[in-house]
Amino acid sequence: MSQNIINARVTFRNSPIHILEKFTIRDVEGAYSQFKEHSGLDECVIIQTCNRIELFGKSRNFDQEKFKKTWASLAGLDEEIFDENLEIDENYKAFHHLLKLTSGLDSMVVGEEQILGQIKNAITTARNTKASGQHLNTLFDKAIRIGTRVRNSSGIGQGGISVGSMAVKLAEENIDELKFKKILLIGTGEVSTLVAKSLQRRGYNFAVTSRTLERSQTFCETMGGEPVKFENVLSGFENYDVLFVATTAPYFLVTYDRITNAVEKRKNGMMILDLSNPRTVDERVATIGGIKLMNLDQIAEMVEKNMNARLNKVKTVENIINEEVTVLEASMKRLDAEPLVKDVFQNIDSLRKKELEKALSMLDEKDEKKIKIIEELTKAVVESIVSTPMNNIRKASEQGEPDLLEVASKLFDYNKTEQK
Ligand SMILES: NC(=O)c1ccc[n+]([C@@H]2O[C@H](COP(=O)([O-])OP(=O)(O)OC[C@H]3O[C@@H](n4cnc5c(N)ncnc54)[C@H](OP(=O)(O)O)[C@@H]3O)[C@@H](O)[C@H]2O)c1
Repeated sequence: MSQNIINARVTFRNSPIHILEKFTIRDVEGAYSQFKEHSGLDECVIIQTCNRIELFGKSRNFDQEKFKKTWASLAGLDEEIFDENLEIDENYKAFHHLLKLTSGLDSMVVGEEQILGQIKNAITTARNTKASGQHLNTLFDKAIRIGTRVRNSSGIGQGGISVGSMAVKLAEENIDELKFKKILLIGTGEVSTLVAKSLQRRGYNFAVTSRTLERSQTFCETMGGEPVKFENVLSGFENYDVLFVATTAPYFLVTYDRITNAVEKRKNGMMILDLSNPRTVDERVATIGGIKLMNLDQIAEMVEKNMNARLNKVKTVENIINEEVTVLEASMKRLDAEPLVKDVFQNIDSLRKKELEKALSMLDEKDEKKIKIIEELTKAVVESIVSTPMNNIRKASEQGEPDLLEVASKLFDYNKTEQK
């Protein structure tokens, strides 16, 4: 009768980014129905970021092989690739992992905020499309609340720096009088937002470009900066001293030839910070005289070094998670008992109402006050008889004793073991 919560994941911990990307599920809504139909899952939430592709599921009959087959077919992969990249956890370990995610402990940059927003979006989408249900909705709501509380109480998110702020800091450290330099930001996505926020906060002027001018304009309205046309930028890198590049373009936008041309026209060097993964800047530009190139790995390494304050808090957060996960596990197990408890209460209450009506009509009672007293009496009798066994069933379920649930199902003639 008990339900299993499953977490299956491919993350940066086991898989380099170029392998990780292959597991991406493009049609998430379609995937939800495929996983439900073919792998014994009856609830599903998919979380995808540039560092992880994760699926949480609820199942009584999870079939790992069929699950891999389904994912392989959705992503167009051979099943063998899963052997080295896929991790699967169930129940306690899956809850523990989700708490690490919401608290920021499993992030590449420990304590970073973005993952919490990405998880909130994932459960909202799953909820709206009915891919998730009572179990996963409860699990995610609780995990998000715990993660937020842990972050606030431990300060794990403080004292650190985002890749965006680090990139700006590196530019400041490497370039004299950055305030007087021409800065260009290529991209208008999440990472560009972090860069723009940091530039804005430090009072730098900057230009922003994206494939469509409208998108750059909208971006600049909220994030600051001056929108510029993409085509003009690609043929005119010589107009800029510093480039921040954060796009998901599958090819180099900042090519060797374009930068060679730019350098020929410029008198001074340039600094290029490529925050993209896969890279959007051809690494060979680093060999051009006067060009200082930093890529995401180098920026992330600097971020890590800056993380000492956060890393000191990791142990505290781990301790809190270890305490919270047992409470979370108990409330998830308790959910297993709820359909039976609800069913028993409903059945007994309808019997009570039926008998009450019969008795009142036999008494031919019209006095509202007396009717109320008799009704309250029936409720009190039912409540005092049923509450204790139902609470014991809930407790047994919490404590992982499904046997009592089985017995209670037989006793109360609860024949809905296939309920989801
Ligand atoms: N999000 C993270 O946590 C994180 C952390 C570190 C690094 N990164 C890396 O940073 C990069 C950007 O990530 P993001 O999260 O900011 O992505 P995002 O929010 O999806 O934004 C992607 C940006 O790339 C642009 N773009 C896509 N294809 C393009 C193309 N062919 N030519 C020019 N521009 C193109 C999009 O502009 P349009 O409006 O033109 O589509 C958009 O501005 C990625 O390579 C990612 O791996 C992400």
